[in-house]
Amino acid sequence: MELENKIIDESKQGEALLVKKPEVSNGKKLFLESYGCQMNFADSEIVASILIDKGYTTTKDFEEADLIFVNTCAIRDAAEARVRNRLNDFKRVKLKNPKALVGVLGCMAERLKTQFLEEEKLVDIVVGPDAYRDLPNLIEEAEDGRKAINVILSKEETYADLTPVRLTSNGVSAFISITRGCDNMCSFCVVPFTRGRERSRDPESIVKEAKEAFAAGYREVTLLGQNVDSYLWAGGGLKKETLTEEQKGNAANFAQLLEKVALVDPDLRVRFSTSHPKDMTDDVLYMMAKHENICNNIHLPVQSGSSKVLEMMNRGYTREWYKERIAAIRKIIPDCGISTDIISGFCAETEEEHKETLSLMEEVHYDFAFMFMYSERPKTLAERKYADDVPEEVKRKRLSEIVDLQRLHSGIRTKQGLNKIYRVLIEGVSKKSEDMLMGRNSQNSVVVFPRGDHKKGEYVNVLVDQCTSSTLIGKVV
Ligand code: 5AD
Ligand code: SF4
Repeated sequence: MELENKIIDESKQGEALLVKKPEVSNGKKLFLESYGCQMNFADSEIVASILIDKGYTTTKDFEEADLIFVNTCAIRDAAEARVRNRLNDFKRVKLKNPKALVGVLGCMAERLKTQFLEEEKLVDIVVGPDAYRDLPNLIEEAEDGRKAINVILSKEETYADLTPVRLTSNGVSAFISITRGCDNMCSFCVVPFTRGRERSRDPESIVKEAKEAFAAGYREVTLLGQNVDSYLWAGGGLKKETLTEEQKGNAANFAQLLEKVALVDPDLRVRFSTSHPKDMTDDVLYMMAKHENICNNIHLPVQSGSSKVLEMMNRGYTREWYKERIAAIRKIIPDCGISTDIISGFCAETEEEHKETLSLMEEVHYDFAFMFMYSERPKTLAERKYADDVPEEVKRKRLSEIVDLQRLHSGIRTKQGLNKIYRVLIEGVSKKSEDMLMGRNSQNSVVVFPRGDHKKGEYVNVLVDQCTSSTLIGKVV
């Protein structure tokens, strides 16, 4: 997640994995590119792990690849358009090397299924998010000249036993998936259709992965799930929906999981994303307050400030409920960073309802926000029930009002960091100057300071004496 208030810059996505060698090479090169959410990037680390085990070497240059994989996002139309454009670039490789294979992975593969193979003639392999273990077989099928597809969604798959290959990471922070899928059915959202039913991963494998990351030098883990607050582990094979109240009481919930990971080491920071306002409990907040190394930062997507719009979005909470959750955060963790997601121009949204979003923003003062125009997605509840009737230019105007207000709030928030001392985990060299290092404070704000003798992965205390609109600048004290 980036620490800027902005409309997600999807053009910055699609980062290719860095080079890492297999134990026994099969002489073939894999180019793997990812789009979309953090979960997709984490999934690509699983895909890389499976294929490097099969002997593939990764490459950053698609022109020399034998296997080109794109891990795709389907959340908005623009995300899909970008992938289609990218597929055209890969045509060049097929012309030069007719044996090269192109595969589409992830949410767009799941959404379009065989349609993809028919429409996009240059795609050889289509694989949904729960079928990555089948990749070696699918590649063989495609090598035999057959179109290969597996888009079966699973109620169990969590890839718990696979060790991700952390290839795009900065060596300091690692992502760990704790749940997959989503059962919420927000009416605008395609995720329940592309990532299937929600399932939790066993806590032992999560803690093991965190310990391994720490031993390998990582100093921060981010626990990932579409709705981390609904994490529940009652033992292998037990499904959340069939649990008795007693079994639920005995199961490990998200607050308990957080504590287990926090106890791995006091020098391992723990973050998580995404929280859901309807499910975020005070237990989680008290657990954050109890452990210094659980970062004081919550991403709590609101989507809209209007209870009527929230109802149509099927979000399961009202404006008042959301405000009460914000009040609980401010009471239990007074210095917590809070960020959000907002959608402008959802079906039938009136000017008054849009103003309610602006007024909620005024009440909360988010540290930052991801802001989007509503994009109708096939098969979703909203597509079936409501007309996408807010004109494009109105959506755009409302979005720009939201963005402007957020920019103002972020600036105010950043200024509040002046003259404060923060504990900062160093992530690397600052983008602007080789002489400066950058890291983040617990609230997830970027902090920049002179390099001195400090190194990536260390903690330092920084006194902030300057700032830009979104970056804190200071000196180690
Ligand atoms: N249109 C616009 N934004 C969407 N999001 C999800 N679905 C849509 C859609 N159809 C946004 C939500 C969500 C974030 C990940 O993407 O704000 O929280
Ligand atoms: Fe989509 Fe809602 Fe699930 Fe988030 S909680 S992934 S917005 S359905």
